[in-house]
Amino acid sequence: MEKIVIESSRPLYGSIDINGAKNAAIPIIFASLITETKCIIENLPTISDVKLSLEILETMGCTIKMLSDTSVEIDSTRAVQGTAPYDLARKMRGSYYLVGAELARYGRASVSFPGGCDFGTRPIDQHIKGFDALGATTTVENGNIESVAPDGLCGAHLYFDNVTVGGTINVMLAAVKAKGQTVIENAAREPHIVDVANFLNSCGASISGAGTDVIKIKGVSELHGTTYAIIPDMIEAGTYMCAAAAAGGTLKITNVIPKHLESITAKLEEMGVSVTTLDDAVIISRTGPLSPVRIKTLPYPGFPTDMNPQFSVLLCLAGGVSTMTEGIYDNRFRYVDELRRMGANITVDGRCATFTGGAELSGAPVRAVDLRAGAAMIIAALAINGRTEIEDIKYIERGYQDIVGKLASVGADIKRITVADEIKEEKAN
Ligand code: EPU
Repeated sequence: MEKIVIESSRPLYGSIDINGAKNAAIPIIFASLITETKCIIENLPTISDVKLSLEILETMGCTIKMLSDTSVEIDSTRAVQGTAPYDLARKMRGSYYLVGAELARYGRASVSFPGGCDFGTRPIDQHIKGFDALGATTTVENGNIESVAPDGLCGAHLYFDNVTVGGTINVMLAAVKAKGQTVIENAAREPHIVDVANFLNSCGASISGAGTDVIKIKGVSELHGTTYAIIPDMIEAGTYMCAAAAAGGTLKITNVIPKHLESITAKLEEMGVSVTTLDDAVIISRTGPLSPVRIKTLPYPGFPTDMNPQFSVLLCLAGGVSTMTEGIYDNRFRYVDELRRMGANITVDGRCATFTGGAELSGAPVRAVDLRAGAAMIIAALAINGRTEIEDIKYIERGYQDIVGKLASVGADIKRITVADEIKEEKAN
């Protein structure tokens, strides 16, 4: 078993480089299947969800060649439909992109129902509504999503009942080679949706409107290969912005698109943190106390749900009463019990948490209950005194490339240990 251990609080000084966006990389990896040829994908983050996505494609018959740590060639010429192993596909949310990609390529799909972080129910009814509007018949049986379009897919006009990132991307994938035009209304507008559309367009697709709430996809008969670099990860950047705001010091965060960070920047400034925006970097600096704020998570360009736990740590540290209202998921506050173990004063009522800041927090043994919650535990530990040990770090490693190394390089007192290291440490003491 591995743990992350943080001994004490130290201000952070230096520079951290941001990797490619997880939530763009995963659909782009699966989208490469539609091209039936070779694609080179660059600026890939080295995280377990990316590794898993590549493994899934490999078991389907794709040839995967790592060209460097961050760039891969995927040759999907010989891929065979419906062979993604249950054990791999069920481990991650993004495996549902195989349904859209397989439908586009083979006119049928068979994929295990996806896993991913537990935030309450995470239905895929809007994905299914989209596939079926294009002419597929989709069912969920025995833990599998089965979809067939014996007469091929035809463009359709579709209105999502709620804004869904996964649904928008999945229908875009399925529609890319459908006959005629597909229009998705009430589409999600996240930067990773634009990135997937740009990737597909660089393969010869005809997608317009990505980044707005109406996306139009004119079906094309085939896609070709491409070389494409993934955008930087706005949530990884936001996480380090919070780390600097919590621990203090001055941190430059490089390889970012500042536009994608606007809602995060605005909230940090409202809390009294200084944010300087450069062309492709932000500089975070905190010297004074944090002010309480009210936050509500919303689809992009609103404040991201994937920054809810990290900002909650700042709300614990701010003097006064703050609130965090979760606008996306039913149950995103499972991490609150872990922060309470550190002494935080938080009450949760449904989708709203109230933080009474100012209490003295102290290090404790805690768990990463999901990916972003795990990042929040690290941020809390960086800001408080006493040793914090974080378990279940596999969740953190699903989405953050070398978070321990990056934070250690800017002065954090952080290490990753195995049980064997721990036994050695105990003996030495
Ligand atoms: N929803 C439905 N029906 C659907 C699809 C979604 O009711 O068919 C609901 C969900 O239950 C949720 C809301 O709509 O309440 C939004 O879900 P969405 O589909 O946008 O989320 P997702 O595609 O499952 C992706 C990211 C999440 C991120 C959300 C929101 C991936 C692999 N996952 O999930 O990322 O929280 O968008 O931005 O892209 C993370 O990176 O830590 C993470 C959890």
